[in-house]
Amino acid sequence: METDPNLLVGRETSDDAGVYKLRDDLALIQTLDFFTPIVNDPYTFGQIAAVNALSDIYAMGGRPLTAMNIVCFPKKTLDKSVLKEILKGGLEKIHEAGALLIGGHSVDDLELKYGLSVTGIVHPDKVMTNAGARPGDRLILTKPIGTGIIATALKGKAASREAEEAMIQTMLESNRIGAEVMQEIGARACTDITGFGLLGHALEMASASQCSMKVIASQVPIIPYALEYSQMGMVPGGTHANRSFCHRSLQVDPAIPGYLLDILSDAQTSGGLLIAVSADRALSLLEQLKQRGLKEASLIGQVTELSPETISVLP
Ligand code: CO
Ligand code: CO
Ligand code: CO
Repeated sequence: METDPNLLVGRETSDDAGVYKLRDDLALIQTLDFFTPIVNDPYTFGQIAAVNALSDIYAMGGRPLTAMNIVCFPKKTLDKSVLKEILKGGLEKIHEAGALLIGGHSVDDLELKYGLSVTGIVHPDKVMTNAGARPGDRLILTKPIGTGIIATALKGKAASREAEEAMIQTMLESNRIGAEVMQEIGARACTDITGFGLLGHALEMASASQCSMKVIASQVPIIPYALEYSQMGMVPGGTHANRSFCHRSLQVDPAIPGYLLDILSDAQTSGGLLIAVSADRALSLLEQLKQRGLKEASLIGQVTELSPETISVLP
């Protein structure tokens, strides 16, 4: 394992990014994320990939400064204009975040992939890791979940236009506001919801913080139609894998149906922030998030003392 007095966050706590202290008042945040297309339109894909990569900086409570493109592109089968559109979408979101694109690298590959390596900064005392949650803290989720299930329905040509639109809008929503509000009001721990789903990332936070958690399923915001598609069995492989991975650490109330548990485990792309905040600050944090446009932000549970079932899922 890496040890260095200036290494504030390394690999041990399954955090969103690495954090390295440069000075007493300045730390560097570094992260990398890339994936295969989840929507058909290349420009939109570029936008989503950039919002998703920038999110790991925000999940640490930081501010992005610079970004670099990482591209795998099938030169023989796709027209160059596709890549141009992807990069254009990405650049737009980098600029929206107030960051600069300063380079990148591309290789010829059979399968298209795009993403970014992002560098940001944060005050060393204000890093939002996975490890800071304490019993009694409230859990707030800033965006609705269900992107994996809707994307699967879309691939099976079963998703409505409306569901597709709602999924895209959710993925395009930046976590910048969440990061800013956390720094203003004060929060204890944070991560963004991506591939391991809400329950998987909650489990990571609980383990890193050596606590347990209660999640109230009915309070979790869900993208319209995701419940319906989940009931129809439109569940991606990654979500099933998450569900079986989390299984041993969960205590699920018998009133919770399997299709709802699938949504709570659903692998997200560019998901919202899961924030642990002290009970006395929870309502002002939630109010600020809503006031600044995150209308679906919700209080979804709380942190409890460590117990054998790390996460209890209640109706
Ligand atoms: Co992350
Ligand atoms: Co990531
Ligand atoms: Co974090």
